Amino acid sequence: MNSINPNDSKSGNRPVILSGIQPTGGLHIGNLFGAIKNWVALQDEYQCFFTIVDLHSITIRQVPAELRRSTLDIAAMLIACGIDTDKSVLFVQSHVSEHAQLAWVLNCYTGMGELSRMTQFKDKSVQHSENVNVGLFAYPVLQAADILLYQADLVPVGDDQKQHLELVRDIAQRFNHNYSDTFKIPEPYIPDTGARIMSLQEPTKKMSKSDGNSKATIFLTDSDEEIKNKIKRAVTDSSELLTLEDFKSFSVNPDSFSDFTNVRFGLGNLISLYHVATNKNFIEIGKEFAGKGFGVIKAIVADSMAEHLNPIRNQYNEIRKDENKLKEVLAEGAEKAHSVAFKTLRKVYKKVGFYSL
Ligand code: TRP
Repeated sequence: MNSINPNDSKSGNRPVILSGIQPTGGLHIGNLFGAIKNWVALQDEYQCFFTIVDLHSITIRQVPAELRRSTLDIAAMLIACGIDTDKSVLFVQSHVSEHAQLAWVLNCYTGMGELSRMTQFKDKSVQHSENVNVGLFAYPVLQAADILLYQADLVPVGDDQKQHLELVRDIAQRFNHNYSDTFKIPEPYIPDTGARIMSLQEPTKKMSKSDGNSKATIFLTDSDEEIKNKIKRAVTDSSELLTLEDFKSFSVNPDSFSDFTNVRFGLGNLISLYHVATNKNFIEIGKEFAGKGFGVIKAIVADSMAEHLNPIRNQYNEIRKDENKLKEVLAEGAEKAHSVAFKTLRKVYKKVGFYSL
């Protein structure tokens, strides 16, 4: 089956989800537990489109050979983490030309002022002050095209993307208002599960792939040894031990755990890591951690995380080895995505007045 037929029982009338991920840098446990696990959980209830946004990635300079390689790395890792290409459409953004085409049209319906207010643009223009290009400025418009082409109902996003999503809604509403209903107005989707995984070295900061300190981030391709060493060297705060009562109060009132992690970042992060790696609740964790020192706790967390990631890494190595198969899967994804995207683009071209042959 090479196209998504909205009337067929497999896609049914399920609401549509679209999300995108950059192909640069390796995926880490913050991506896995914060985003990818949620994507995996959504696949049955929603018609999901997941795209690897290589067009977005060149707004920052990339090494071409590395970008090519990491595009395949990420595709293989997403499948290893549980993205099922029989259920969801997984594709590379540049393989579906409608993204760039719609982005151009939407550029003409977006104000300079609106884009100037985007905090991500402001941050990145400081970080990459030597190369503040027009693509970086128009980045959110391309993101709008990604979402609107598929008439997405929901867009799973982290906090940092909420402002972009607001803009996407504004652009879509403006276009619909100027012409007639063309785009579904997407809603942000903030899943209630999902954990905030912090840097192991500076636990007040989110874990990030571009952290200068390689001990701060656990990549999904790290070996068991690397995973364990990084967790054992994680920065923690004071040496005050936790009691079972502490864990009981987290259990009764999860907000008290957030308050706790905002004071004792390092220890809070270790508890979160253990929770996501094992799915154990606060009481179960309390029974193992109460009264224990950091050394013991770190060893338990380190073993559990290595055990959790081991099968994912094996899957990944298996999938990544067979590049021809991987290419086939991506070609199929691109074809399915195109079969939806071209319909939206055709409508848009017609509405704005392009003469069609
Ligand atoms: N801008 C997103 C990020 O930095 C990636 C992205 C591109 C995206 N297109 C998207 C996310 C569409 C959601 C929907 O993480």
